[in-house]
This record gives sequence, C-alpha cells and structure tokens, in this order.
Amino acid sequence: MSKIATLEIDGNKFELPFIVGSENEGAVDISKLRDLSGVITIDPGYKNSGSCKSEVTFLDGELGILRYRGYSIEDLAEKGHFLEVSYLVIFGELPTAEELIQFENDIRKHTLVNEEMKNIIDGFPKTAHPMGVLSALTSALTAFNPKSVNVENEKEMYEAVCKTMGKFLVIATWTYRKSMGFPLNYYDNTKGYVENFMRLMFELPTGPYKADPIVVSALDKLFILHADHEQNCSTSTVRMVGSSHAGLFASISAGVSALWGPLHGGANQAVLEMLEEIHKDGGDTEKYLSKAKDKNDPFRLMGFGHRVYKNFDPRARIIKKAADEVLATLGVEDPILEIAKKLEVAALEDEYFKSRSLYPNVDFYSGIIYRALGIPTDMFTVMFAIGRLPGWIAQWKEMRENKEPIGRPRQVYVGYPLREFKSVDKR
Ligand code: SDX
Repeated sequence: MSKIATLEIDGNKFELPFIVGSENEGAVDISKLRDLSGVITIDPGYKNSGSCKSEVTFLDGELGILRYRGYSIEDLAEKGHFLEVSYLVIFGELPTAEELIQFENDIRKHTLVNEEMKNIIDGFPKTAHPMGVLSALTSALTAFNPKSVNVENEKEMYEAVCKTMGKFLVIATWTYRKSMGFPLNYYDNTKGYVENFMRLMFELPTGPYKADPIVVSALDKLFILHADHEQNCSTSTVRMVGSSHAGLFASISAGVSALWGPLHGGANQAVLEMLEEIHKDGGDTEKYLSKAKDKNDPFRLMGFGHRVYKNFDPRARIIKKAADEVLATLGVEDPILEIAKKLEVAALEDEYFKSRSLYPNVDFYSGIIYRALGIPTDMFTVMFAIGRLPGWIAQWKEMRENKEPIGRPRQVYVGYPLREFKSVDKR
C-alpha cells in the first residue's frame, strides 16, 4: 500500500505521495504540489530537497557510509582499479575481464585530441588557473566531436563515454604542461590509464619517463575515492545543463566550473594553502582554530565540514591512511602532514566543531598525497575532476536515459509590486 503525506495549509489538507528508497530514505513527492495547493516549497542550497531518483551512489551522512552501485567505498578502494570502478559507476555492474579489456581498448580509440585544440590552449596565459583552461577545453571538444552532442541510442552513448574518458585525461594534463611552457604530450596506448596520466604530466622530450608503481597505485585509489558522490554541487550542475539537452562535453565543462569553487572541489587546493600558511606562521594550529570559530573572521577551516556528512567522511579515513603509507614508502617527511594531524586532533576535540558535526572531508588529506606525488598545488582540483569524471558521466547518462524534464526551479518573489515608469526628468 503506497504511503501518503498530508500537508495542511489554512485548514485545507493536501495529500502527497510519499516514496521510500532502497535504503529506506523517505521523500515527499511534491511534483504536483503547486497544481494541488497553489504553493511551492523553498529550500536555499537544496539541503532538504531531492532533485532525482538515482541508482548510482548511496551515501549516509550520519553513519559515514558511501557505496557506488551497492559496493562499499572501502571495498572498491582496496580491491578495485579506477577504470574498473569507472565502468561500474557508469554502466551499473562490475565488468567481466573481457568487458574491462574492451572498455580500455575502446577508450584508447579516442585518446588522440584534435591538433587544432592546441590553438585554443595557446590563447591562454601561462598563469591561467588550470580549472578555467580545463573547462574551456572540455567545452571546445564539442566543436571537434559534434556527434557526441546528442546521444540518442546506446551505441552513441557508449562512444561518447569512451571519447570523454579518453580525451578529458589528456586535456587535463595539457593545462599543467601549458603553465610550465612544456610541449603537450600524447597518450601512449601501450600503457595504462593512470600510468598515462603521470607520463602526460611529467614526460619531457629530453628522455623517457617511468612512473613509480607506488605513485600510480596511490593515484588509482584517489581517483576511485572521487569517482562519484550523488547530487553534489558539480554533479547537480552537470545534470542541470544536460537536462536542456546540451551535449555531454558542454555539461561536463559546466561541472568543471562548479567544482572549481573553494567550498567544493577547490577545497583541496585551499587546504594545502591553509596548511602552508599555518606552517609559515610557526605551526600555531590553535590560532587558526580560533579564527575558524570567530564569526567576524571569514576564515574557515578548509577540508572540514560537509553538506551531507555529519560524521567522518569515509573517504577521508581511507586517504589519511594512504597518506601515511605513501609518504612512508616514498620516504617523504612532510611537516605539513604533521600540522594536518595536529589540526585534526585539536578540531575533533573542540566543542565548536563537535557541536556542528564538522569532520575532515575528502579534501583534507588528498592535497598532502598529491604534493608527495609531485602534483603541483594548482592542479589538485584538476585531479579531483579526473576522479569525478565517471560520476559526472554516469549521472548525466542516467538523467538522459530516464528522460528527465528540463531543470527549472521556481522562486518566491520578494521584490517591488507593480510600479509606473517615471521619465528621467521626474526621478
Ligand atoms: C566537497 O557535496 C559533496 O558531496 C561535496 C564533495 C564531493 O565529493 O562532491 O564531498 C566534495 O565539496 C567537500 C567539501 C569541501 N569544502 C570545504 O572543505 C570548505 C570548508 N567547508 C565549509 O565551507 C562547509 O563545511 C561546507 C561548504 C562544506 C558545508 O557547508 P554547510 O553544510 O552549508 O554548512 P554551513 O555553512 O551551514 O555551516 C554550518 C555551521 C556554521 O556555523 P553557525 O552559523 O551554525 O554558527 O558550521 C560552520 C558554519 O560557520 N562551519 C564551519 C566550517 N564549515 C561549516 N566553520 C569553520 N570551518 C568550516 N570549515
């Protein structure tokens, strides 16, 4: 028997469908609310509003649970590989050995980026932030791959997926190469996806580059941890743009721009800059905790807090452990890591943070590993984008396959009532 919710306004009762998800999350379906009652709801930042039903990711902010297609993030990070998990997130099932080989080979068919794209990146100053360049190059992919704009069938969708996975990785590294004045590298189809990332970033014409397997394995795990996170800011942006039937590249480009913000994916860069500032300031973590608690001080403890997790972000736990392992294995002594740990301990004991359920999130430790792996700070959010790409694709694909309507929220108008135009001599 389907459940209903009853809303009473000025003595009038309205019955609304009540739906329950596969993990027993309850939701009032308000899609007919305005027709029934003439009123709408309002929820700035959508803290209490669901935009869709989705089968891709489940997370429980209270219990600190994260699963892609039913598999726990702990299992996937420990036992999976990034392309394997990307296949799961996008197509819904873990691939067989044959499917995985086919997927990697089909991606390889699209790892060559049109040479004319280099004219676009040449137009940017070396000082341009990589995320701005990446967003522009991603949108420009549409010009060279028009067929991936409107995917009307499974075959076209699959090809668009492989094209995006193949080309995005290459142009993401071009943003770094451009900033360094290095020549732009090409994907090597004889090597793996994550190993190629390191080559594309660091191989110079002066000699071959051999990626350290420890680094490749750590990056593979980091990309898995970032692969999807239900309806976060950038993913909701990808869905919103895609809902107008804009193409996959244009939608991903919008997601890159949303991720760039320091309250979202840009936090991993902001965390490192914050830790370096604390380090330069003599490592006085108490001073920065006080700043974070001071309402008159705009300073926030970057890498802490989360819109959904009111417990530890499970990804932060995994990344913290990986940071210890990677730095120990690489023999890197990083005072920044010690400051991060000191800050974490102090914050977790502090009433202000405890009472607001502010815990370290995915961005708190990731920058420390990226730095140990030789990734430059202003590329940290690009790393997040590379990891999040399969999630953006999966959510865009789900939205299009479910034929969801164009996104168009309502509003409550609080401006002037009707007033007459006055000619300028009378104002
Ligand atoms: C990501 O949504 C996702 O899933 C995102 C993500 C993903 O995988 O896609 O998980 C990735 O974006 C992680 C978050 C990275 N951002 C940061 O680390 C930036 C620092 N964090 C904050 O700016 C903040 O915590 C947010 C933006 C993440 C969440 O903000 P909310 O949920 O809107 O919380 P809020 O702003 O309403 O704050 C609630 C209270 C406020 O204090 P009071 O007004 O109640 O007194 O907590 C305080 C805030 O001032 N607060 C912080 C704080 N975060 C919240 N105080 C100090 N430092 C912080 N970091």
